[in-house]
Amino acid sequence: MNLSVSDLLIHNIGLLATPLSQDRAQWAERVEKIPQAAILIHDGRIAVVGAEAEVLAQSPAQVERFDAQGALATPGLVDCHTHPIFVGNRAAEFHLRNAGKTYLEMAAAGGGIQATARKVREATTERLIEESLPRFHRSLTCGVTTLEAKSGYGLDWEGERKSLRAIREIETHIPQRVHSTFLIHALPAEYRERRGDFCAEVVERMIPSVAAEGLAEAVDVFCENGAFTVEESRRFLRAAQERGLSCMVHANQFGHSGGALLAAEVGAGSAHHLEYLNEEEMLALAAARTTGVALPASVFFLGDLPYPPVRRMIALGMRVAVATDMNPGSAMTESLPFCMTAAAIYCQMTPEELLWATTFNAAEVVNAEDEVGSLEAGKRGDVALWKLPDLESLSYHFGELRAAAVFIGGKPVWRDPDASSRY
Ligand code: NIG
Ligand code: FE
Repeated sequence: MNLSVSDLLIHNIGLLATPLSQDRAQWAERVEKIPQAAILIHDGRIAVVGAEAEVLAQSPAQVERFDAQGALATPGLVDCHTHPIFVGNRAAEFHLRNAGKTYLEMAAAGGGIQATARKVREATTERLIEESLPRFHRSLTCGVTTLEAKSGYGLDWEGERKSLRAIREIETHIPQRVHSTFLIHALPAEYRERRGDFCAEVVERMIPSVAAEGLAEAVDVFCENGAFTVEESRRFLRAAQERGLSCMVHANQFGHSGGALLAAEVGAGSAHHLEYLNEEEMLALAAARTTGVALPASVFFLGDLPYPPVRRMIALGMRVAVATDMNPGSAMTESLPFCMTAAAIYCQMTPEELLWATTFNAAEVVNAEDEVGSLEAGKRGDVALWKLPDLESLSYHFGELRAAAVFIGGKPVWRDPDASSRY
């Protein structure tokens, strides 16, 4: 092997834990665990991974080394559902909710998504980028190397395009890979009496422009009472598919909205939220091979919703991913490890399932499973190191867990200044 200066050997890994592509069908049962491991990265991709002695035997003496000091190594995490492009905050609403007002009541009174949208529409692109960028950095410190980022607080075309362009600009400032999604989130206030006109605008102008200008890879729709109906959502998703964009749905968050069945009907890659999900809906999603994305931070933060029935989803053959849903209204966090803890407690997910759900399965949601989501030869050298003794501890130590070090394409991109001690 012809090694270059950019190659890297991560050695002295106490335990390496990763999904393997060959175990995809049995994802809920198996994680590869290798004690005292190493990873050799060549030209940004994993060249050799396995027991340290074997990897060292295949590594040239002059390669740059990184001593993991006994850390746990996992694939860089993949956060497959975030809304990080906004300005301002909704802390006051959070406390009003805690005092008894509901999320849907405040949304109906012009708060919620509409409140954030008013601020986003007033903001310059520069301001929008300046406020959004730190969220990507915090996500990185939590071990996330690939993330999905949605627009959805611009509402009209000008605001949505500004948001999608902000994502493109932010991508040039950060080491993570970003998969952008055009989210049709709520009816803009000025269209209240002209719903049909807005839907026509989405189908005839917005989705074609998103595709033509390469502004997003996917289209998402909030299919819910108070947002968009099943019929409207179907039109949007079909239009997206006609333009070669992949599809996802915000489905069944506040009730059996029809969103989950629609996701199955159109063959969407993923259906997200799924707080209200019955057997028929689970079977439809399983048959359509639509991944269910659980967003436990939003259930935790809203406080009055059921958690998605993940154990039953898995039993009925669904693939499951877990994501943060980072947004100002229902999930003000960048911490995917926190979401693992919540999914462990409230969805009874095992440490092994949680690893798949935040790496390989999440990579599939953004169609990046050939590139990222597991530590296997040929994949990108995206690695998270954790000052933890075992995989179980990744969802056990909650609230402030940061990665000890993060590598993207074999390059060190984050190092915890406090890396000397163990959690
Ligand atoms: O995924 N449910 C719709 N969208 C977001 C919340 C958006 C907001 O409240 O600003 C979610 O939870
Ligand atoms: Fe969301």
